[in-house]
Amino acid sequence: MAVSDQAKERLCPAVSQYGPANVRDLEPGKKMKWCTCGLSKTQPWCDGAHKGTGFKSLKWIVPEKPQSVYSICMCKHTKNPPFCDATHTNLPAAVEQTQASCPGSSNHHMRACPKLCTKCGWVPDF
Ligand code: FES
Repeated sequence: MAVSDQAKERLCPAVSQYGPANVRDLEPGKKMKWCTCGLSKTQPWCDGAHKGTGFKSLKWIVPEKPQSVYSICMCKHTKNPPFCDATHTNLPAAVEQTQASCPGSSNHHMRACPKLCTKCGWVPDF
């Protein structure tokens, strides 16, 4: 089966943390913006750091009957955003392999990826 164009263009986020944030005391009905790119400094929520990367935050409204604790994904690879679905458990090796075989890896250290390589999730440290 051929890979769809949409799948080919899927952006790879940075991993903020290999595990969820346990978030408490969220106000019912409050509109939250979950960080999808992994670059936000206010994890797990968006601070606008995605600008220029092609990512957009994901809007989520805290239910009127909220849970006392939410397990919010920090690895950014969950299939049930913004919640952790345990995808992070097998992620470190997959991310390492993706970054090692990234077609843009030769450009990683030449400032071609100023914020994030969206092909593999690599984040520069300069
Ligand atoms: S932290 Fe992303 S799936 Fe668990």
